[in-house]
Amino acid sequence: MTHPATSDRPVRVAVIPGDGIGTEVMEPTLGVLEAVGERHGLTFEWRHHDWSCEYYTRTGRMMPQDGLDRLAEVDQILLGAVGYPGVPDHVSLWGLLIPIRRAFEQYVNLRPVRLLPGIESPLRLREGSSIDFVVVRENNEGEYSEVGGRMYRGSPHELAVQESVFTRRGIERVARYALTLAAERGGTLASATKSNGIIHTMPFWDEVVRETAADFPQVEVRDYHIDALSAMFVLDPGRFDVVVASNLFGDILTDLGAAIIGSIGIAPSANLNPEGVHPSMFEPVHGSAPDIAGQGVANPLGQLWAASMMLDHLGHPDAAAEVVAGIEASLTSGMRTPDLGGTASTTEVAQVVRDHVTGQGAAG
Ligand SMILES: NC(=O)c1ccc[n+]([C@@H]2O[C@H](COP(=O)([O-])OP(=O)(O)OC[C@H]3O[C@@H](n4cnc5c(N)ncnc54)[C@H](O)[C@@H]3O)[C@@H](O)[C@H]2O)c1
Repeated sequence: MTHPATSDRPVRVAVIPGDGIGTEVMEPTLGVLEAVGERHGLTFEWRHHDWSCEYYTRTGRMMPQDGLDRLAEVDQILLGAVGYPGVPDHVSLWGLLIPIRRAFEQYVNLRPVRLLPGIESPLRLREGSSIDFVVVRENNEGEYSEVGGRMYRGSPHELAVQESVFTRRGIERVARYALTLAAERGGTLASATKSNGIIHTMPFWDEVVRETAADFPQVEVRDYHIDALSAMFVLDPGRFDVVVASNLFGDILTDLGAAIIGSIGIAPSANLNPEGVHPSMFEPVHGSAPDIAGQGVANPLGQLWAASMMLDHLGHPDAAAEVVAGIEASLTSGMRTPDLGGTASTTEVAQVVRDHVTGQGAAG
């Protein structure tokens, strides 16, 4: 399920730092990738793009007209974060991220939720329990659809209709990915539903997940209503291995997942085209954080972890593991950004990770 890199040519990576702290966490991440690449015979050709809200205010577009064609030429895409006050969030999302996810059939949004060593969860975990699961979010359809509209604007009769779109093909392929992952991990699959209240799309989701699961008799599948599932993320996160959810449910669950592992600044995300026909896109879960942008204190670990997922997807699990080990080394060294209670800067934390992967750090 990887997009293979050839070792005899550089991996072409489109780099879109975006807005706010996206630009601050991207630069040191490229340095870490170069350092780890050197050890594993991997070189990179960075193709930098300044597509962002700032670009939008200059040009009226989030990316140029031929933006998707230019991205089609690369192996992978590394994204920081987009969104900034002054540009409505739906403009930045629908002008850049969603077209990329859809044009390149990145139908899996993979988000690991793992409590890293040295970090305290805001939850009081049960004795011996840990947090280590993966959320597989459907990334191409569902509740995030363009179908609908507004009528009678400005009148007392004003109304808005927003349709959800669920297809058999869309549900089946994301369920199959999640079931394969659950089988690999020797674990269970939790499927997020709301079939009691949403009476057409959610029973359909449940049926197709069940039908697909018939090919995976070794995986125990359990449906959870989204409200109860959210409560379980807080009360008993140790019970989960793989969670599969629709676009909206997965989006909300993974912010909750990021919160229970200590900080949204750590959480990574991979928008995967599992077949490798198109480039995949790797980004942190967090946004552009205008409240701390420009201060140099953004946590770079989410971006770095996302970069390690890119290495994994490229077929270099050892290089990926070294970056994750570097992230863990930075956390246990006590060098932390303010969101984790420390005083270190973005570049200081990234430097610890880089030192670790080049073998210079204390833990290297
Ligand atoms: N994928 C994306 O590009 C993406 C995702 C979410 C939000 N956004 C956009 O980002 C903008 C801000 O959104 P928001 O405030 O809801 O979410 P946000 O993730 O940017 O920030 C939420 C809170 O978490 C903190 N935070 C986030 N990342 C951090 C990091 N790496 N280190 C330390 N602290 C961090 C912020 O300071 C803020 O207090 C909006 O325009 C939104 O649309 C973009």
